[in-house]
Amino acid sequence: MVTSQILKMRLEMATIEDIKARQILDSRGNPTIEVEVVLVDGTIGVASVPSGASTGKYEAVELRDNDKSRYNGLGILKAISNVNNDIASTIVGMSALEQAVIDHKLVELDGTANKARLGANAILGVSLALAQAGSNFLGIPLYRYLGGAEANLLPIPMLNILNGGKHALGSTDFQEFMIVPLGAANFAQAMQMSSEVYHCLYKVLRDKGLNTNVGDEGGFAPRLSCNKEAVELILAAIDLAGYKAGEDLFLALDPAASSFYQDGKYVLSREGVALSSVEMIDYYVKLVSDYPIISIEDGLAEDDWAGWLLLTARLGREIQLVGDDLYATNIERLEKGIAQKASNSILVKPNQIGTLSETLAVVKRAQTAGWTTIISHRSGETEDTTIADLAVATNAGLIKSGAPCRSERLAKYNRLLKIEEELGTAVRYPGKAALYNLERLKSWK
Ligand code: PGA
Ligand code: ZN
Repeated sequence: MVTSQILKMRLEMATIEDIKARQILDSRGNPTIEVEVVLVDGTIGVASVPSGASTGKYEAVELRDNDKSRYNGLGILKAISNVNNDIASTIVGMSALEQAVIDHKLVELDGTANKARLGANAILGVSLALAQAGSNFLGIPLYRYLGGAEANLLPIPMLNILNGGKHALGSTDFQEFMIVPLGAANFAQAMQMSSEVYHCLYKVLRDKGLNTNVGDEGGFAPRLSCNKEAVELILAAIDLAGYKAGEDLFLALDPAASSFYQDGKYVLSREGVALSSVEMIDYYVKLVSDYPIISIEDGLAEDDWAGWLLLTARLGREIQLVGDDLYATNIERLEKGIAQKASNSILVKPNQIGTLSETLAVVKRAQTAGWTTIISHRSGETEDTTIADLAVATNAGLIKSGAPCRSERLAKYNRLLKIEEELGTAVRYPGKAALYNLERLKSWK
């Protein structure tokens, strides 16, 4: 038999034989979907889907049953049925190696602009399980399968060590206070530094008589009077751990401002103020000049485009300004942001859009615009580690997966530790170069 025939027969074994969805529970104990794709040679690909709490209004639809008698209406029986019926009957028989073709087919089969018919949770479960099956079939790691020979860049972790907003009611108005170990020499060292700072933060809180319980993403959730206090506590923890803030580790914020935007004002209830867009920007300018903050995500609300343009004009050369709810991993919204210079970075969450191919396209588009990209988890997570591979596959440069606490958060970081080991001498850790588009970091070299 000639080689091409053997190859053809081998590739035919990648045909999808079966596809099955089931319900599992996420890190908040809510139902979510797990999908298993089986190929004719017996290869299996499995993936599960996360879920947000501070969900943006432009995200693709997460299909829930709304049957109050089960799981407070959060059941996903419809999404499961959509995978096992509509989707399975369409893609069984296709090749698992045709990721882009199948993703396109899924979008077409859904037929709505926001994946409301089949559910973005159903579609993403299939899309990710398919990628897992493809990489397993070829016997190469997922990051290599998706990213090819160039996928060698480990991301900078952004670790949310103090939780507030919708992830820890009663804590701060801002949702996330992150540490960013830009000064580490490699990913393993970045995790060591971050874990040490995390444990020092525990000591700082304990010694001040503050609560040491954790929020949804594993960060501490003390009751504080203002956002500045959270920043000061983290700086004390960095110092206690023997590191230098602004050199070894930097700070990043995700206020998730849409969640406290009411009637045209940014309402910081802990501080007893309601700020206009311009006043909110002044607030950030002051914070950035006082502290080593290098990134602010969702500093303004998802519809406050005028505010975003102003914010970027004022701070866009100094710090990373990240659109999360603003773009919702949606390429049309991203194009608008690029055209208007509304920010200089995008948060990428596969479940905001629903297929892997659309997610990859968003990352690529942002990178060609000279923006930074951050691959992100959701506040409701599972032990699935696909985003770790996705970050390496796309050379994203940055990843957000919560605190170094709670296994659904660590699963992603631990996967990256293994990838770093596997890549050996080929591996790169970007350090400060991850924020290549910022003027401010030049003075921090
Ligand atoms: P979510 O929060 O997963 O609850 O939406 C994460 C974020 O805002 O980045
Ligand atoms: Zn966010």
